[in-house]
Amino acid sequence: MHDFHYRGEELYCEEVPVAQVARRVGTPFYLYSARTLARHVRAFQEAFAARPHLLCFAVKANGNLAVLHLLGRLGTGADIVSGGELHRALMAGIPPERIVYSGVGKTAREIRRALEAGILLFNVESLPELDAIAAEARRAGRTARVAFRVNPDVDPKTHPYISTGLERNKFGIPMAQAREAYARAARLPGIEVAGVDCHIGSQLTELAPFVDALRRVKALVEELAADGHEIRYLDLGGGLGIPYRDEAPPAPADYARAILAELEGWPQTLVLEPGRAIAGNAGILVTRLLYTKETPRKRFLVVDAAMNDLARPSLYQAHHEILPVRRAGPPVGPADVVGPICESGDFLARDRDLPRFPRRALLAVMSAGAYGFTMSSNYNARPRVPEVLVRGERFAVVRRRETLAQLVRGESIPGFLAE
Ligand code: LLP
Repeated sequence: MHDFHYRGEELYCEEVPVAQVARRVGTPFYLYSARTLARHVRAFQEAFAARPHLLCFAVKANGNLAVLHLLGRLGTGADIVSGGELHRALMAGIPPERIVYSGVGKTAREIRRALEAGILLFNVESLPELDAIAAEARRAGRTARVAFRVNPDVDPKTHPYISTGLERNKFGIPMAQAREAYARAARLPGIEVAGVDCHIGSQLTELAPFVDALRRVKALVEELAADGHEIRYLDLGGGLGIPYRDEAPPAPADYARAILAELEGWPQTLVLEPGRAIAGNAGILVTRLLYTKETPRKRFLVVDAAMNDLARPSLYQAHHEILPVRRAGPPVGPADVVGPICESGDFLARDRDLPRFPRRALLAVMSAGAYGFTMSSNYNARPRVPEVLVRGERFAVVRRRETLAQLVRGESIPGFLAE
């Protein structure tokens, strides 16, 4: 459910006509709905209200400070995977005791910063990483609370690039090594064993893989308890899918019901790391039609947004609906929606049955609120686009369009080139 809807012929975000924002900020731009974001957060919070839990929004999905601030005010924490994301989360006002830190390659400096900030939990992905965290904790005179991310070897049945819980993936430690790892952690000064973590993949549209993974985690927690460890947190990761097209993923309430049924009598605090399910359908990418190009084989709609702005279609063959900002006539046959980048892989949509649009028509690329802006780049020296947040009748530019000066910031031409 989201707040992008037509009133008459015009696409609105909440009470704001999308075309009005385009007039103000130019195109392309990302547009987010505060109401949708809030609704999704509440859906999770209400679904899990029956037990202690912490919702840690996956910052990689959408790291905009205003978005994080809004989510933080609603009570969410953050799941981070880098020092940069830690910086964003803290700047946005998310309390450190609601931050968990995942990722296979945390550097010493990143670990130090996270310790200084006093985050809730390090999700540890290997023994060498555990040693690095212990060393930094001792140096800083702090204790690091840790959970091992275990790899339950469950097939999440999603795109191979975004499945993470299989043995062949680089993530987590194998279940078979978990007890030994916890024993080692318990002996290490500077380390406090606090939880178990697992994340099996993203854009999951079925409950079974979540439940399978949780059962394996439960079996491990029982063993760990028998070994004398006190497991206070169960971090179940993120991964709940959203409808991009005709998928029917479980709602947060269904997801919660399946998980809570498994955890009756289990006292741990649940940590959840949803990203896409909170932000995905809360954002769109708005782009303008530059040219319609008809060839004997194909119709191309050349727009001003490209794969550098939204990488998902090129990278994962992901489907994003394309809607006109001002309703157009009936579909007249298939077209590719392509950007200005010099690669054939630069497309936002392929073979879509779309209307004939007037010149300079505005198009909305739907479900772009997660892994949209955060995965954008400057490829082809394209400045990154603005982000705009709507709340009710108001909107604000929450990140300005990059300027040409910012595009070359930090570059220099060394004197020796003139010799
Ligand atoms: N926690 C961990 C440890 C993760 O690795 C991820 C996502 C999440 C939570 C959040 O997952 P979500 O609830 O958003 O599914 N760029 C890809 C998605 C990559 C997801 C990576 N990890 C895409 O555009 O589909």
